[in-house]
Amino acid sequence: MFNTKTKNVEETQALAASIAELVIAKDVLLLVGDLGAGKTAFTQGFGKALGVGEPITSPTFTLAKSYSGRLTLNHLDVYRIEDLEEVRDLALPELLEGEAVTLIEWGDQIVPSIPQNYLEIRFEYGQEDDDRIVKISHIGSSWHKRIEQLQGALSEWSIKQ
Ligand SMILES: Nc1ncnc2c1ncn2[C@@H]1O[C@H](COP(=O)(O)OP(=O)(O)O)[C@@H](O)[C@H]1O
Ligand SMILES: [Mg+2]
Repeated sequence: MFNTKTKNVEETQALAASIAELVIAKDVLLLVGDLGAGKTAFTQGFGKALGVGEPITSPTFTLAKSYSGRLTLNHLDVYRIEDLEEVRDLALPELLEGEAVTLIEWGDQIVPSIPQNYLEIRFEYGQEDDDRIVKISHIGSSWHKRIEQLQGALSEWSIKQ
């Protein structure tokens, strides 16, 4: 795991854009953190860098929305899921197939239902109102190979653990 810190929403979106440069088809990113921590803001920066033209809004009421870009962007918000049974309704295997990258807000809630190969981005509040500590960890072999490259790409925001 390594830690980064952003000082405003633009920095979080720039950090997200740097990650977007390194993603490949079938990647999954779990976005974890309290309400207002920056998960949707991150997705917006990420999507823009992926070449999504349309505005990305919070999918809270729809659970999932897909956008076209360099890769398809699946944006999920599973905040409302109370029961892992409901995850079936998301048809995740179909979403994770193909030339798509999938970002899941509140994704830690459905970890038992997803392939154990993902990047976790955890947002915590920092000292100042707009500070966010962004903790990045990887699970599985797919990210293992890219983690040093990722750490390098995010070096301008990195902080000591
Ligand atoms: N460093 C920062 N990173 C991300 N968002 C920030 C930051 N500082 C302030 N904000 C603000 O916090 C809010 C984050 O909201 P949002 O991305 O919708 O959160 P979430 O999806 O985690 O509930 C936005 O209003 C954004 O402008
Ligand atoms: Mg959100």
